[in-house]
Amino acid sequence: MYRSHNCGELRMDHLGKEVTLSGWVQIGRDLGGLTFVDLRDRYGITQLVFNMDDKPELCEQARKLGREFVIRVTGTVNERSSKNPNRPTGDIEIIVTSLDILNASQVPPFIIEEETDGGDEIRMKYRYLDIRRSNVQQNLVFRSQLAIQTRSYLSDLGFIEVETPVLIKSTPEGARDFVVPSRMNPGEFYALPQSPQTFKQILMVAGMDKYFQIVKCFRDEDLRADRQPEFTQIDCEMSFVTQEDILNTFEGLTKHVFKALKGIELDDFPRMSYDDAMEKYGSDKPDLRFDMSFVDISDRVKGFDFKVLDDSEYTVAIVAKGAADQYSNKDIKKLTEWMQRPQVGAKGLINIKYLANDEVKSSVGKFYSDEVLNEWKTDVFNAEAGDMVLILTGEKEKTQKQMNVLRLEMADRLGLIKEGDFKPLWVVDFPLLEWDEESERFHAMHHPFTSPKKEDVQRMLNGDHETMKALRADAYDLVLNGSEIGGGSIRIHDRDLQSKNFDLLGFTKEEAEDQFGFLLGAFEYGAPPHGGIAFGFDRLCAVMNGQSSIRDFIAFPKNTSGRDVMINSPSNIAKEQLEELSIALDVKEE
Ligand code: AMO
Repeated sequence: MYRSHNCGELRMDHLGKEVTLSGWVQIGRDLGGLTFVDLRDRYGITQLVFNMDDKPELCEQARKLGREFVIRVTGTVNERSSKNPNRPTGDIEIIVTSLDILNASQVPPFIIEEETDGGDEIRMKYRYLDIRRSNVQQNLVFRSQLAIQTRSYLSDLGFIEVETPVLIKSTPEGARDFVVPSRMNPGEFYALPQSPQTFKQILMVAGMDKYFQIVKCFRDEDLRADRQPEFTQIDCEMSFVTQEDILNTFEGLTKHVFKALKGIELDDFPRMSYDDAMEKYGSDKPDLRFDMSFVDISDRVKGFDFKVLDDSEYTVAIVAKGAADQYSNKDIKKLTEWMQRPQVGAKGLINIKYLANDEVKSSVGKFYSDEVLNEWKTDVFNAEAGDMVLILTGEKEKTQKQMNVLRLEMADRLGLIKEGDFKPLWVVDFPLLEWDEESERFHAMHHPFTSPKKEDVQRMLNGDHETMKALRADAYDLVLNGSEIGGGSIRIHDRDLQSKNFDLLGFTKEEAEDQFGFLLGAFEYGAPPHGGIAFGFDRLCAVMNGQSSIRDFIAFPKNTSGRDVMINSPSNIAKEQLEELSIALDVKEE
């Protein structure tokens, strides 16, 4: 027998009991007469004691144990003389009577504790050691529970989990495809799904009514903290539903998992149109844990002989509460330089400081008198003594994006984000199409299967170019603490409308037929009205735990270059294999 109990289980109730435990040596301490060893497994850490007087040979053996040795011990549960209140097993220890070394270990390359000295790369290379750390294990346990709760909630509502294929044909979700060569079809390739979008729609045509799948998706795009090339979605689709039905169902799912896993009852989710989100926050995923919404002062600032603002398309302000007296001119200069970095690209940063002593100071005081600035203080900014107003100006869309960056930065600097606060939001009424100046083409804002709003269908079928820019879609995103957790839409289920959409997106008839003929064909055999959503499962895990990086919620993530450094992938493949796949490449000879 390897164990009678696990390493997180024993308490004062077990005093005097003989137990057997197995696990890894976290650390050993030799105090001469006594040797202590902390034994760890997934469930916790239990202190072992080896007594030199009683068992000198055993004690000698224990002294030689290295970190991460795998051992089995038998002994008696004893009350500790100095208890450790920080550990659930901290009241007891095991007086060891027998010890087996099940496996030795090399000295690990980093400390296997919550606070580790291992950098990212080394931890990923030795991910099996990293996962021994309790915080990483807890993340994976959380992930598993989130999947279980999701399945249970959706299956209670009558959703059926259906697996869709991984070797498919391109689905356009806006990223590049990963492709897989086909040996049996020389020169041809499968694509890995960016999402199961078309399959779930086909399942609706097939009458499955309510589908879900916790599913891997693959996107060859630039990586960030919240993006991985392979990630997981909670992918869902429903038939005979309106947008309202979908929002309610998945608001319900979100509330359920928060209650089940965090004990938090979320209030009903507010909704905001895409236009309002852009006007008020310069982002389609505003973080509502703090206010600082935008004040459009484009008109108000004109007519004071300040050419820059007189000539500007758009001038916008935010109020940084209580920051006026904290920010010296030097601090503001630094903040301005930060905003002028190429990644942000602001031309300058204007400030008005309403100091605590009621004085007003501004970088544009030359053009605007104290009287004017004081009038704006209440009338325009709703500011108080001590507040600092920050202003950006320029081309509207660009300036909104820059102000979004500044708003998030100021919230961070001013400590406005409370830990453990969760602010969900539905962003609705997205535009159907997005005009890309560079390629002079429309792109689907969500994806090409998204339906325009009912009232926009005729305009889409008959309208001119400008009309197309103004079309709205039944598309929605679920935003949580400023992170896009999910997105979906009501779909087109009519062949002609779908063809029109492909046409607007620049597909020729042949291209549309070639890529999506199967879907267009299915629409001719009684496609029900349908719609759905997909949650970013990894993101949901991270955001529910107050973290921005999804990597620690994925057992074996890729690094920022898309590499798995543990298995060293991607890697070259043998020449023979390439030949078999009919791929001619200049392969480096070993
Ligand atoms: P969308 O492309 O918005 O929609 O993706 C849904 C959600 O998946 C998450 N996500 C990612 N997570 C980690 N790494 C990535 N690279 C990544 N890309 C996306 C986000 C996002 O909100 N088929 C549609 C859904 C639908 O219309 O039903 C789709 O895939 O949290």
